[in-house]
Amino acid sequence: MTIFSMGSEGDGKNSPRRDTPLSGPLGGKKICVVGAGFVGTVAAAGFAKFGHEVICVEKDPARVAELSRGKVPFFERDLEELLKSSLAGGRLTFTSNLEKAVDGSKAVFLTVGTPSANGGRADISALKDIISVLSKCLSPGQIVVIKSTVPVGTAGSLKIILEQNGSGTRGVEIINNPEFLREGNAVFDFFNPHRIVIGGDSHDAIETVAHIYRMGMTRHVPIITTNNETAEMIKYASNVYLATKVGFVNELARLCDGVGVNAVEVARVMGMDPRIGQEFLNPGPGWGGSCLPKDLMEFLGLADSLGISLVIPRAVHDANQKQFDHVAQKVKDLLGTLEKKRIGVLGLTFKADTSDLRDSPSIPILKILMEKGAEIMAFDPAAGDDLAAVLPGINRVNTPYESADGSDCILILTEWSEFQLLDWKRMGDNMRTRNIVDTRNILAPELVKKYGFDYSSMGQI
Ligand code: UGA
Repeated sequence: MTIFSMGSEGDGKNSPRRDTPLSGPLGGKKICVVGAGFVGTVAAAGFAKFGHEVICVEKDPARVAELSRGKVPFFERDLEELLKSSLAGGRLTFTSNLEKAVDGSKAVFLTVGTPSANGGRADISALKDIISVLSKCLSPGQIVVIKSTVPVGTAGSLKIILEQNGSGTRGVEIINNPEFLREGNAVFDFFNPHRIVIGGDSHDAIETVAHIYRMGMTRHVPIITTNNETAEMIKYASNVYLATKVGFVNELARLCDGVGVNAVEVARVMGMDPRIGQEFLNPGPGWGGSCLPKDLMEFLGLADSLGISLVIPRAVHDANQKQFDHVAQKVKDLLGTLEKKRIGVLGLTFKADTSDLRDSPSIPILKILMEKGAEIMAFDPAAGDDLAAVLPGINRVNTPYESADGSDCILILTEWSEFQLLDWKRMGDNMRTRNIVDTRNILAPELVKKYGFDYSSMGQI
């Protein structure tokens, strides 16, 4: 494994972000990005901003049309601005034609989804389909860069497909370049990475991918070059570790609730130790989203397939399921019973600043509450329209105040900052009984208690 830095000026810690792209020694590349989800769109628009000529392939023609007009069909902070700017720069186009898009591209970045399939293993069939098409149209010297999160060994197996299916594909290199973009912060993370990981067998291919990034960076960012399998594992290990950290702090909060200690303060002081770190120490309703849950399942599935028993990730998974019950229990503890109680829910997405409901903790928690007879009046500023499909039976309202109307309890599940600015007196005046379960610890306990609320949080005394 080799580590070197991206930028060249100073230590770069406080370097401003540069608006105009740097011209690297090799100049811009023609790049193809396959998949216009949140990772693909951010990468395509970001690489164009770096100065590369980017063509992004998306199979849905309606999405191609929208993106070409500068419209982002999902919620991702700052992305529309970046997209418009890259389109205006003339270096970004969208198409549905994969074969045409890869023609002449030095690197083809694959960003398609790898959802959980049977038994929790990651389903790489979308990637395989694309590789089959690519095997007919790639030629030596072109590079396939896998940004999708893929099981250890995937680069190797895709290379075999590539070579078996196509005559001219010997000499096409496969690189694993995991992404570490958080939904809701993906644009910021793209331009401000902590590290760039590039796995592969060919020094030249790795160097080309490193150059693609280096061209746009204004500060030192470690570039880690390694083999494909290590890069693949780094991604899984990172997400599983993040889930572990959140899982730990959630249990810490339960313990602190039990003994009357403020868990938020404990976590803040723990995090002052650089070996622990401040981030991912916020207790909540359980971790969710499109990545941590599926990556933990693949991690466990891989271990199982090798007959290796992993105690910690299994416990992290189980503790998260218990966290959902724990939140429902907190509501019941305040109300005595859930039967015929009306719960005003604030926030449904798996975290703030996204419209994504995939594996959101709100889903299992609200299912438990509804099974026990509660009626749900839910408000979320961005949750996708698929709500009725994932949570049949819930009532969606248009304002937070409507969620309070006649409710017995407000349950905060997502940390949207606008919830802190609500008029809590007005919320209380609309309610049948004044109770709040704040699973994100976003409210000031003294304030809501002043308005007569019984307030329950995650270890925030
Ligand atoms: C995660 C990783 O953070 C990214 O680095 C990675 O690139 C991405 O997965 C991916 O694999 O694509 P994301 O799924 O956007 O990003 O969500 P996170 O910000 O990691 O949050 C995950 C869950 O943990 C959320 O439900 C969040 O509310 C919860 N969380 C996080 C807490 O409850 N407490 C915390 O302190 C932090």
